[in-house]
Amino acid sequence: MARTKSRFVCQECGYVASSWLGRCPECGGWNTLVEEAEVTAKASKSYLPANNEKLRPRTIASVAQTKVERLATGIREFDRVLGGGVVQGSLVLLGGTPGIGKSTILLDAGLRFGQQGIKVLYVSGEESEEQTAMRAVRLGGAQANDNLLILTATDLDAILAQANALKPQLLIIDSIQTMYNPELQTAAGSVGQVRECTAKLLQFAKSTGIAVLLIGHVTKDGTIAGPRLLEHMVDVVLQFEGDRSYSFRVLRALKNRFGSTSESGIFSMEAGGLQEVANPAGLFLEDRDGEAAGSVIGACMEGNRPIMAEIQALVAKTPYGMPRRTAVGFDYNRVNMLLAILEKRFGLDFGIYDAYVNVVGGMKVNEPAADLAVAAALVSSYRNRPLPKGILVFGEVGLTGEVRRVSAPERRIMDGINLGFSKFIVPDSKLQLPSVKAQIVRVKTLEQAIAAMFG
Ligand SMILES: Nc1ncnc2c1ncn2[C@@H]1O[C@H](COP(=O)(O)OP(=O)(O)O)[C@@H](O)[C@H]1O
Ligand SMILES: [Mg+2]
Repeated sequence: MARTKSRFVCQECGYVASSWLGRCPECGGWNTLVEEAEVTAKASKSYLPANNEKLRPRTIASVAQTKVERLATGIREFDRVLGGGVVQGSLVLLGGTPGIGKSTILLDAGLRFGQQGIKVLYVSGEESEEQTAMRAVRLGGAQANDNLLILTATDLDAILAQANALKPQLLIIDSIQTMYNPELQTAAGSVGQVRECTAKLLQFAKSTGIAVLLIGHVTKDGTIAGPRLLEHMVDVVLQFEGDRSYSFRVLRALKNRFGSTSESGIFSMEAGGLQEVANPAGLFLEDRDGEAAGSVIGACMEGNRPIMAEIQALVAKTPYGMPRRTAVGFDYNRVNMLLAILEKRFGLDFGIYDAYVNVVGGMKVNEPAADLAVAAALVSSYRNRPLPKGILVFGEVGLTGEVRRVSAPERRIMDGINLGFSKFIVPDSKLQLPSVKAQIVRVKTLEQAIAAMFG
């Protein structure tokens, strides 16, 4: 007879069943039962004795003295997102769509750790040891690296037994969705499995001081597959983003208990693995030649650093009754809003025109600071007049047509000057800039901005 070590609990009403049911008999919810490992209840005492050494409160001053140990890879863009490196005993979750480069970046990190004498165990539940080794050879760090150990396995108990015996400083799990806890009946990747496996790894990390890096798959809507709870359990949630048809990748911290979430790391995917882009400001301007109607360069922020984005708009007579609007790399609703503002303020009749907005190079801009560039691109295409060369714009556009302040204007301007821009159309605010040769036009309204651009 099979021993029951797990139970199924309804996530809606808490009903407990011994086997999986499609519908909860209590609340009638479909697909709400999730498997959990059984917890054996201990007889509760009213008070525990206070002489328990492990559970003694300490003064905050004595705790504040203990230093956080971080393991740094030496990949600057990677370490920065983590706040300076992986904290010992922490649990880090890295999410991203398939093929984006999660295995590549963590294997690369593992190789760099190994080269510094930090022992790493890389466990893959998806690829054979040969496949992992092939990737390591491609990344160019496999030779004479005795500190990186690889293992193909999916049984979490067996993996933790190996990790316990080996005592690495870092354990990498590729991916959490392929791990399974044999105590549960459901298959790897189910909500229950993912949750139990993460809980076990969390306990392992905290009790041994070994840092654990988890790879997590994301679902179609971009969230990490599995329960939301997962993001609460781990110390750090990283997201690896990018468009697979381009080489540009961004690593972002969505949550970090040991550092800021405003940092981001920028990489480009090359044959030899991911290369860091230390100076990303001009990354998307490389293939640009000359001016064209409908193209405007906007200064956007990626984390704490400016990146110049080329925003293109195409406004063309609609062949059908219904005009089309499309936005790639920019918020669709904001495009509609800007079109409405332009109609109202400038009398442009977009009702008979299709309008397409595209951010070049697969970049995604989700900052209102790009509004002014999008609006300018639409006007430029509508009038079929290119902007003169060397103009950089940024600013949020409000519904009444006012141009609103955005963060870090000085940094956007200084990076623009370094890239050779000579005229800046920016929101009206006090700027603390060193004396620069560039022409800086501070505007209060969209009318002023458009006038300043087209002269
Ligand atoms: N032999 C190769 N040469 C160059 N690039 C490769 C090679 N193999 C894989 N890649 C690149 O690496 C990417 C896969 O990265 P990977 O780390 O496996 O992604 P993930 O783990 O996020 O699914 C592929 O999209 C491809 O661009
Ligand atoms: Mg992978």
